[in-house]
Parts: sequence; C-alpha cells; structure tokens
Amino acid sequence: MNTLHQPVLLVLGALLILLAWRRWAPVSYWYALVFPRKAIWLRWSWRHVASGCSLTKKRHRWWFTTVPGLVASTGVVRVRRRFQRVAVDTKPWMGLPRPIRYGFRLTFHLLDGQVPDDYAKVCERLAHAWRVEAVRVVGSRPGRVTLQGVTVDPLAQTTPAVPPPEPREGWRADDLLRPIVGVLETGAAWRMDFRLIPHWMNAGATQSGKSNLINALLVALAPQPIALIGFDLKGGVELAAYDPRLTALATTRAECVSLLADLIAVMGARMLACRRYNVRDIWQLPDDVRPIPAVVLVDELAELYLTADKSEKDEVTRTATALLRIAQLGRAFGIHLVLSGQRIGSDLGPGVTALRAQVGGRVCHRVNDPETAVMTLGDLDPDALVAARSIAPELPGVAVITDSDGRWYRARSGYVSTTTAEQAACAYANITPSWSQLAASGLGHELPATDPTPELAA
Ligand SMILES: Nc1ncnc2c1ncn2[C@@H]1O[C@H](COP(=O)(O)OP(=O)(O)OP(=O)(O)O)[C@@H](O)[C@H]1O
Ligand SMILES: [Mg+2]
Repeated sequence: MNTLHQPVLLVLGALLILLAWRRWAPVSYWYALVFPRKAIWLRWSWRHVASGCSLTKKRHRWWFTTVPGLVASTGVVRVRRRFQRVAVDTKPWMGLPRPIRYGFRLTFHLLDGQVPDDYAKVCERLAHAWRVEAVRVVGSRPGRVTLQGVTVDPLAQTTPAVPPPEPREGWRADDLLRPIVGVLETGAAWRMDFRLIPHWMNAGATQSGKSNLINALLVALAPQPIALIGFDLKGGVELAAYDPRLTALATTRAECVSLLADLIAVMGARMLACRRYNVRDIWQLPDDVRPIPAVVLVDELAELYLTADKSEKDEVTRTATALLRIAQLGRAFGIHLVLSGQRIGSDLGPGVTALRAQVGGRVCHRVNDPETAVMTLGDLDPDALVAARSIAPELPGVAVITDSDGRWYRARSGYVSTTTAEQAACAYANITPSWSQLAASGLGHELPATDPTPELAA
C-alpha cells in the first residue's frame, strides 16, 4: 500500500470508530468525549454568558488604572497611573460542571440580592447560550442554586408507566395519594402529590394525552386502599372500561347531579366526624377511624357545563356549585378532583373561573390556542406558556405542569394503554370499596346508604 494513503486511512478509520461509538453507545460517548469539552467551554464562556443573561452585578473595586493626561505642548500624551474606584461586572461563582446522562449540573453562588428565581427566569436564554436543549433550576439552598442542562430532550422517548410495587405490610397513610405518573424533563419522577396539591386540572387539545394521564393515574392509584369515582359524559366510552375499580361512575347528566349531591353528603358526614374528634382534617384522625380517601376523575369537564336548553340550566348550576364546594372543602375531607378538558375557561359558564381558582395542580398538554394555555397555567411564568405552546403534536403526553416545589416543569406521562389500565382495574377490583363502605367509613357506624349507581352494583 502506498505510504501516502496510510495516514488518510487511519484518520478515516478513527472517524468511523467515533461515529459508530456515538451511534451505538451515546451515553459513554457523552461522558468520555463531549462532556469534558463542554465543561471547559462552560467555564471559559461564563463571564460573557452571565453578562448576556443579566446575571452579573456591578461592584466598585479599587483598581490600578492608567489615566490619559493632558496633551503636552510637545504633542506627547502624558499618562498618570493611580488607584481608582471603578465599577466592574462581577459574575456569580460557578462550581465544577458535573456530568449526568446527556447533560450536566452546575451550582452557582448567588450574588447579593439574587434569588433562584432570577436564574429560573433566564433558563431559556442560558439554553441558547450553552447550545443545549433545555436548562432548568433543579435545586436551591441558601446562597446557592443548581441548574441542569440537557443536550437531548429526555421527553422525546415514550416511557412505559411503572406500576408501584405493593407494600408488603399494608399502606402507610403517608404513602397514599402520591402516585408517580411519568417523568419530568430533569429525569426525576413526576409525582402528582394529592396531599400537597389536592386538586388537578388536566387540559389539552384532542389527542394530546389527557386520557393517557387518567390511565396512568388509575394504574398508580388502583393498588391503594382508596376509592376512585368517575364522571364521563362522553357516554362512558373513556371510563366505563375501568368499572371494576370504580366505586361509582356517572355517565349522564342526571347521574352526575345525583352523584355530586351524594359526595357532598359524604363530605358533610366527614366534617362531623372531624369535629367529633376535634381535628382539622381526616389525616389527623386515628388510622382505624380514618375515612376512605376518594379521587374523582372527570373526563371532559365542558360536557358538565354545556346546556342545550333551559331545562338543563338548573342541573348545570347544581353541578357547578357542587364541584366548587368539593374543590373548596375536599382536601380536608379526603375528596380530590382531577378535571380533564380541552378548554377550562370562563366561556363554559359561571362558576368555572371560581373552580379554576381552587384547583392548584395544573397539567397543560398541547393546546390549540394560546388562551387555553393562559387559562390553564394562568399566573405562572410567561416561559411556561411558551413551553406549553411549543409542545409538538408528535409528542402526545408531554405537558407543562406545576410541581410540589411550586415550579413549572415539562413532563411526560408514562404510556398506559387502555388495555393495561383495564387489567389494573380488574386486578384490584377486590379492594374497590362499595359506596356504602365509602359513605360509612370514618363515622364509626354503618350507614343505611343506598348505592348511587345501581347499575354498578348489579
Ligand atoms: N405519554 C404518552 N406516551 C406515548 N403516547 C401517548 C402518551 N399519551 C398519549 N399518547 C398517545 O396519544 C394518543 C392520544 O392520547 P389520549 O387519548 O390520551 O388523548 P386525549 O387528549 O384524551 O384525546 P381526546 O380529547 O380525543 O380524548 C393515544 O393514542 C396515545 O397512544
Ligand atoms: Mg380522552
């Protein structure tokens, strides 16, 4: 072989190896080759980036400066050297970048007067400056803030939902109603913590992943000793399949009105029980008398508010009032709402705005119009609205959510097919409390309760 060709062949071979490495083992490629380069560049460019993102502060320092003097008659510029107080840009101190899977974490020392929110506000700008997919605040402690940058969108891949392992010694009260339903873009688990945020709004255009989130919730909550209640005014097509694990299901407007009235009655009985024990909510009651918590799943909220004629107006008003009462008082008495719908705005009728104000948990899937994102995410950061508006249709299940730490995140629900959710509903059918058990629990005596959905009992 010609000796001239040897180096060319070597370079080509090395390139091929690198390409194959990147293609077949991207994680080790990131750790070994890309991350070290990125880390050096992050530190080297930090002064410019911090100044560009307005994270620097002006500070006065004594500086040895050269001051141009007067032009002498000879035409020679005389310079004077002296110490002077000058304003200089001070950048926040940056810790060593730490690698994570497809990304990095960085801790910064906050300058005087800065708060972690100042960094959260410029995440979008930092992502562009650092040439990464997304940057988020992932932690903070006094005087420090930790940011995470990711080089590929961790939500681009569908992740199957992992059903929670059933605890061997029964459920502790603290573990109830804290289901994991997907992943956050930070790679952490997305936990819908009903104990911290009692009611959730699940909004999104058609085919954006609302029902999938309900499926994920059902699979995660089915093993817990709680009641699940369904409202499905799409004639039951969405929730009827989960009948075995539902304590009650309403599929017509009349059923909805009567089921909501029954739930209000249950709530009233629980209020009395709490008063009798002199406690403020059911979680302070002793374990053996604590009423069964209930999660109410509503699919297509708009259907509950739409009126075709005047005769339905009264039913809609009663429905709206009952939902509002549950949203206001349900947390203390263990009744939680998950309201799904394509639009959850004041255009649906009076009462929706008040209901929205009581629902702290927000999940905003892909939406068709900016108003829906504004209605759902409301007073969150404007960046959250931008993130919600830019969810691609080919990523169903991706949503902008509020998390227990009060921040917003992009997240994706775990994929749960209707068949999987049906199987979970059947597998845990034996622990489904009946309506009379739900109504009587916590009262210390059995109620002569009638089942509100006779077809279910049958
Ligand atoms: N997290 C996810 N991962 C992968 N695929 C998903 C995910 N969520 C939803 N999908 C897919 O997107 C499609 C639409 O989802 P889904 O039925 O939940 O939408 P929807 O918002 O309830 O729509 P509609 O308003 O029409 O009821 C489904 O076929 C489902 O397979
Ligand atoms: Mg649906």
